[in-house]
Amino acid sequence: MNTSTLNTSKLNTTIDRTDDQIYEPLDFDGPTRLRVVAFPTSEPATGRTMLQAQGLHKTYKKNRVSVPVLKGVDFAAQQGKITAIIGQSGSGKSTLLHLLATLDRPDQGEVHFDGHRIDHLSRRSRDQFRNQRLGMIFQFYHLLPELSTLENVLAPIMIGRSAFSYLMNRRSIHNHAKELIERVGLGHRLHHKPSELSGGEMQRTAIARALVTNPDILLADEPTGNLDQETGAGILDILKDLNREQGLTIVMVTHDESIAKKCDAVVRLSKGRVESVV
Ligand SMILES: Nc1ncnc2c1ncn2[C@@H]1O[C@H](COP(=O)(O)OP(=O)(O)OP(=O)(O)O)[C@@H](O)[C@H]1O
Ligand SMILES: [Mg+2]
Repeated sequence: MNTSTLNTSKLNTTIDRTDDQIYEPLDFDGPTRLRVVAFPTSEPATGRTMLQAQGLHKTYKKNRVSVPVLKGVDFAAQQGKITAIIGQSGSGKSTLLHLLATLDRPDQGEVHFDGHRIDHLSRRSRDQFRNQRLGMIFQFYHLLPELSTLENVLAPIMIGRSAFSYLMNRRSIHNHAKELIERVGLGHRLHHKPSELSGGEMQRTAIARALVTNPDILLADEPTGNLDQETGAGILDILKDLNREQGLTIVMVTHDESIAKKCDAVVRLSKGRVESVV
């Protein structure tokens, strides 16, 4: 087994990894193991479809009330690009993002990641897929209130690794988490809890947490939605830098047309269908 070291470019973080960790096939039913993959240091291949959905239908049912939300949505995100999902409030943007992230299952339709179908996997496999390949920024952050900034950012690694693996690599893992926290400008808030952070700081913590496992793709639900314009612009800059410097593929829900205009592709949802793709 070849052991080598990758430099995560701008993040200035060095992570030990093994080749079989990088090219591990998408066998999500295999033993749980965090796939430690650094951001590519060279120009990534773009133009390949990384995340794709076909014919997604989703209806929420509560008591006898059915709320049809998605009525046959097709979606594709290209590797190394930023794809925006826009649409009015209630048009199903978060619902679509949750289906793409395998947090929920469609009633009909399929989701494929890197050519592999992922929507029908077992819950455990989907959990493993998210932990290893995907970073998620939720509309309302979903930070754990009792944990500090550093602990929140470390949480996906603690979940994805065995205690032994974590302890063996503790120093490099902590350094990596701290580099990310620095990168989002929160180096001075390492030990603050979410209740002691501003909205923008919580959002930046959520970004660092989403990136700590070095995902292939980042799904962000209104990452600037709850923030003032200036703070929101700062968050967008961070995401754009990550995309440009590390080739991180991003799918971002936004209400804001001016933000959508800065993305590589824009998918507009309306009444449960894709109205346009630009
Ligand atoms: N768990 C649920 N149970 C029942 N209805 C739901 C559920 N989640 C969402 N909905 C409904 O589905 C519709 C789409 O919700 P969704 O959160 O996807 O919209 P959105 O486009 O993200 O809106 P916003 O821009 O306000 O975040 C809404 O009418 C919402 O009330
Ligand atoms: Mg939403």
